[in-house]
Amino acid sequence: MEKITSLAKRRGFVFQSSEIYGGQNGAWDYGPLGVELKNRIAQAWWKEMTQLHDDIVGLDAAILMHPRTWEASGHVENFTDPLVDCKKCNARFRADQIPPENLAAKKCPECGGELTDTRKFNLMFKTNIGPAEDSASIIYLRPETAQGIYVNYKNIIQSNRMKIPFGIAQIGKAFRNEIVTKNFIFRTCEFEQMEMQFFVKPDTDVEWFNEWKKRRWAYYEKLGVKMDHLRWHQHGPDELAHYAKDAYDIEYLFPMGWRELEGVHNRTNYDLSRHTQYSGKDLQYIDQDSNERYIPFIIETSAGLTRNVLMILCDAYDEEKVASEKNAGSSEGTDDWRTVLRFHPALAPITVAVLPLMKKDGLAELAQDIRRELKEDFATDYDQGGAIGRRYRRQDEAGTPFCVTIDYETKENNSVTLRFRDSMEQIRVNRAELTAHIRKAIKEYKR
Ligand code: GAP
Repeated sequence: MEKITSLAKRRGFVFQSSEIYGGQNGAWDYGPLGVELKNRIAQAWWKEMTQLHDDIVGLDAAILMHPRTWEASGHVENFTDPLVDCKKCNARFRADQIPPENLAAKKCPECGGELTDTRKFNLMFKTNIGPAEDSASIIYLRPETAQGIYVNYKNIIQSNRMKIPFGIAQIGKAFRNEIVTKNFIFRTCEFEQMEMQFFVKPDTDVEWFNEWKKRRWAYYEKLGVKMDHLRWHQHGPDELAHYAKDAYDIEYLFPMGWRELEGVHNRTNYDLSRHTQYSGKDLQYIDQDSNERYIPFIIETSAGLTRNVLMILCDAYDEEKVASEKNAGSSEGTDDWRTVLRFHPALAPITVAVLPLMKKDGLAELAQDIRRELKEDFATDYDQGGAIGRRYRRQDEAGTPFCVTIDYETKENNSVTLRFRDSMEQIRVNRAELTAHIRKAIKEYKR
């Protein structure tokens, strides 16, 4: 994890929030490469969940919602972590994350001091809306995006003529006052979720739950994630959220061990029943064909976008001993080790880097011209500084899947060198066919 954190900072993927003031716990900033990676992961999920499914539509609901939402959802009452403090060293722990023998003996796992009694701590961030700071002005930062979907479900049925079964997908920020925020961007107070709520007829929920488990597993396979680093974990009775009848996590083998990446939950009709009760609005679905009325059951797929960024960084990270690499027309080789991020080309922040072998003799201008052409179709970078081997290494470390090198032969016959990140293979391609070549390589990419 240390290597990934340091690479992430060095190459501008992720910075500590407010670093010049000593950093803000639980918050991170995404730099130029990080924001591209995060956006591409979001785009891949959005395409998978909306474009490829006729029965799923999108939504972008507000972060600030009516406070009754969180009473109805059960978050005001139940969204708590058990907390203990050490009276001696003041360390704070989640009671369910320290050894049970320490909890039973009320003994601090760090200094052996006495622990306080366990108390419940609500994870929602509370603030006030408007100028008065009284109980009537309390508002919460949403701890999950899901509720924005539930309160809009009737609007979407009416405006978009949706028929059950159908889904609503949303990507957005969520906030939790997490007690333990170690492991880089894994668990943070401000993060992003990619959630989809699938509304189904009661009694078909188990079938749809299994179907969505299959689909979400297949999604990660399609992205080229190492499948032996993924596994299912079913929630035991003591792990189930207050709204869930059944829940499975997709866990990923992060550097610190197996941890939750995404959850698939059978939320039953809990949420819509509660919103019916708290809002007084009828949230039943009316089946126009059979005239049946019912509160739909909901199958939820809930993935952390920022946690997916960490997963993709960990999954892509590789160090490799390689033979000295030379470029056509150059006598320069490189050292024997490279750090490479093997991103799927659809996720890589930069798709193509254009590198003139030399700055002189018009090669730089020619390279800029070729880059201008490629820009229309791909995210590009341009680098003319230093030995070509070192420039390849820089692109490997940023996870750029393709490099295009412009040399003297390009001037003569309009051909360029196309270099592939993973194999380091180099082929000669005609400039006119370059875009098509790269497109094909992206489509056919296999790790
Ligand atoms: N709507 C259901 C829900 O929010 P969850 O298991 O609490 O379920 C879903 O969260 C996903 O959101 C998790 O699998 C994780 O990827 C991400 N997530 C949750 N808390 C997070 C945090 N503090 N920091 C980063 N990601 C988080």
